[in-house]
Amino acid sequence: IEKKKAVNKEYFEIMKEAQIFFRENIEKYDEALEYMKERDFSLDEINKFGIGFASSSRDELFRYLLKKDFPEQKIMELGLVKRNENGEIYDSFRNRIIFPIYNADAQIVGFGGRIIEKNTNLPKYLNSPDSPIFKKGNELFGIKYRGENIRKKGFAMLMEGYLDVLTAQKNGFENAVASLGTAFTEEQGELLKRYTDKVLISYDNDEAGKNAIVKAGYILKKYDFDVKCLVMDGSEKDPDEFLRKNGKRAFIEVVKKSEEIFDFLTKEVSKDLDLNNINGEKKFIERLKPFFSNITNNLSKNLYLQRLSVNFGINDFVLEESLKNISGETSQRKKR
Ligand code: CTP
Ligand code: MN
Ligand code: MN
Ligand code: MN
Ligand code: MN
Repeated sequence: IEKKKAVNKEYFEIMKEAQIFFRENIEKYDEALEYMKERDFSLDEINKFGIGFASSSRDELFRYLLKKDFPEQKIMELGLVKRNENGEIYDSFRNRIIFPIYNADAQIVGFGGRIIEKNTNLPKYLNSPDSPIFKKGNELFGIKYRGENIRKKGFAMLMEGYLDVLTAQKNGFENAVASLGTAFTEEQGELLKRYTDKVLISYDNDEAGKNAIVKAGYILKKYDFDVKCLVMDGSEKDPDEFLRKNGKRAFIEVVKKSEEIFDFLTKEVSKDLDLNNINGEKKFIERLKPFFSNITNNLSKNLYLQRLSVNFGINDFVLEESLKNISGETSQRKKR
């Protein structure tokens, strides 16, 4: 273990140096500052979050890190550089705004890079690949030291993107975190559970976001979170856009109106169903099975069943038969 610690220490040092490089770089490039200004970030805010820039230079970062005597092999394992077909090494992040990803011990474990060019076929975001110190599904972007930001507020706001989190945090919603462009994982659920048992899912206001709310909801229920979700009925795509357009007062109102996950879910899965029709009802209950099979807390399960019965006029006995005794793979594993 001691040896592993020593090995890891150098990876962390490399990431820290890389961030210093990116950070110092951003002030040298007008186009980078201009881009961040368009997104309403002042220089103070850029510095506060450690935001940086990777220019279009071929291997400036690589040379910078070699000069600091870091081994080529480790720089490569961290995904900061890549080798092309001719064997030449070049920087992975180019022409991108760089967001450092901190773990819960405040160490930099990865970077996210947003393209600043407007018309390009390149992917909008590029993230550090998994490495000896980074597994994307295990981290949450925006967690501060030992989750102090979440603990203080008493709940977490789970968002989709880097800029949702940073815009939220600078507007006082410091408990905002993001699952880094992947689907929310069980590991992330476990991580959050160390700091709170309440989550407000604040995903994007589109079909993809809605589907993702449902899936994240299942996982959060597995870990027995109290789960709500944000309902933005306007045209704003995501929390970042909402906040920039309407300000924090308006966002607080939206937060106040957030919906219990179960109410969201029942609405969502019954959208295309006629619940006055037996077939519709059958499908409805069928679609709620994954939710109930993920609930690990029995009291919660009973309360949800009761709510279902009251709100939809479905007989208790029927629900008991079909939903009460189903249990998911994980909940069975947990019981053992
Ligand atoms: N993402 C990613 N790779 C992509 C697209 C998205 O990793 N090619 C991740 C990023 O973490 C991004 C998040 O998913 O922040 C949300 O994606 P999306 O909603 O598409 O981003 P936007 O909100 O449109 O990003 P922006 O506001 O910067 O335009
Ligand atoms: Mn999205
Ligand atoms: Mn609850
Ligand atoms: Mn978005
Ligand atoms: Mn956005």
